[in-house]
Amino acid sequence: MLGNLQYESKKLAIMYFTVAAILFGAQLLFGLIIATQYLYPSFLFEILDFSTARMVHINALVVWLLYAMIGSVYWILPDETGIETVGIKLGKLGFYVLTAAVTVVVLVYILVQTGSGSKLTTWLIIEGREYIEAPRWADIGIVVVVLIFLFNVFATAIKGKMTGIIQVLMADLLALAGLYLAGMFYTANISIDQYWWWWVIHLWVEATWEVFVACLAGYALIKILDAKREIIEMWLWIEVAMLFGSGILGLGHHYFWIGTPEYWWEIGALFSALEPVPLVAMFVHVIYDWGKESGIAKGKDKIHILKNSPAFAWLIVGAFGNFLGAGVWGFMHTLPQINLYTHGTQWPAAHGHLAFYGAYATILIGMMYMGVQGKNRIKQMKMTRSSKLAISLITIGVLGMTVALTASAYVQTMVERAQWGATWEGYFVAQNSVWFLQGVGWRLFMGLVTFVGFVFLIKDLLTIKSDKRQVYT
Ligand code: HEM
Ligand code: HEM
Ligand SMILES: [Fe+2]
Repeated sequence: MLGNLQYESKKLAIMYFTVAAILFGAQLLFGLIIATQYLYPSFLFEILDFSTARMVHINALVVWLLYAMIGSVYWILPDETGIETVGIKLGKLGFYVLTAAVTVVVLVYILVQTGSGSKLTTWLIIEGREYIEAPRWADIGIVVVVLIFLFNVFATAIKGKMTGIIQVLMADLLALAGLYLAGMFYTANISIDQYWWWWVIHLWVEATWEVFVACLAGYALIKILDAKREIIEMWLWIEVAMLFGSGILGLGHHYFWIGTPEYWWEIGALFSALEPVPLVAMFVHVIYDWGKESGIAKGKDKIHILKNSPAFAWLIVGAFGNFLGAGVWGFMHTLPQINLYTHGTQWPAAHGHLAFYGAYATILIGMMYMGVQGKNRIKQMKMTRSSKLAISLITIGVLGMTVALTASAYVQTMVERAQWGATWEGYFVAQNSVWFLQGVGWRLFMGLVTFVGFVFLIKDLLTIKSDKRQVYT
């Protein structure tokens, strides 16, 4: 039995998943707007600024992923600990406070797009740190809500059963929440400000979030495949050690050109080059479990039935996507000798799309399917036509955008940087190159493909329960 809504914690999880899905849609719509503005700069001129729409695009991304992560934890908590989440009423209050705050922040971004800045601006309108631009009042609200969440998790784990997955998650959550504080204080020096800001962004996506989703994937593999818990938890600890071993000093790849001491070139080069190693390990791990537990490796004697095929499919795309987007596309530009030429081009954007999608969006969508399965008490959940269309169109769309942007980035690197020596004139020569423009054109097209896939995803999440293929108890 995969659990049902007898636990309040699971109801709260579904609420978090719902808002996450809505924000995902908003993220894509704003992505389409800025991709259009790349090609037609007068599109929505003086109505919706590129800088504002871009900000909503990437902040919505971070926020929906966090919503889906919190939702996933509320979902797995009763299963892992065996009890109802402690302080669940407080947890629900936190959800409403957070959602109200997010709504107000986004409305303010859109209504107050330009204007003069003062100290009050940081408190009321925007803090100005890419990805985590929320104003100071919202920052403080977020900290309070996260403290409630931490209390829920820790109190429940201490009262109930404490599995290895929950232990890793508890340690990881402390680090994840603590790091947010590094992006909250004000310094007048832009280098110092960037230095600390990267602690949030890099140490989130390349260390703490990776461990977080590894815990979720571990849980899902146990539920879907009956994978052996001891093996999953052993791998988790190894992955935690490797991720932190390379990810923490891998931070150096953001310190190459921001005014920090030059020793970061060597440190950043070495440790960030090691970062793909744990990603390969995680990839091998999932594929290994897939083969071993589904009986492929052993011959036909022990074929397990997949209890949730859509979720499993998303996990597999996650294993490939994390490896390709973060590992391969990250490695491409991580050495300072190369980054000197790729920095500030579409290269990081190509990598950013595939990495965020591959590593996080995929696994969290998989968790949403786990939620839908549990909510509707489906014993064995099969793929529908919409499940297949959603996963293929979204994946082809994001991969397509990545390849298109890589082509555009290649032109910028070669023409603007290598040939023209990073001059002002070189910038425009590259921007007007037909190859660059074709790349951004294809990005828009592939973005549309992604969006169509998203529509199928929502349709599927809402209607999969009534599909005839599903097996009920
Ligand atoms: C899932 C994990 C990862 C995610 C979500 C991610 C995402 C991103 C994003 C969004 C950026 C652009 C940041 C900006 O706005 O300036 C970026 C930059 C970068 N990433 Fe990653 N990344 C991940 C893992 C990695 C790994 C494993 C490596 C190295 C092997 C890597 C290497 C880089 C480098 C070198 C840059 C800086 C590019 C520049 O500013 O010139 N990333 N990453
Ligand atoms: C409809 C699909 C999408 C379109 C059309 C789109 C378009 C764009 C555009 C035009 C930018 C601005 C690039 C720049 O400033 O030069 C951007 C940035 C970004 N997008 Fe998307 N996007 C889409 C979906 C996604 C998805 C699914 C993700 C992740 C899961 C994502 C993550 C990002 C990130 C991390 C950045 C910042 C990159 C950086 O700073 O280097 N986008 N997107
Ligand atoms: Fe990084």
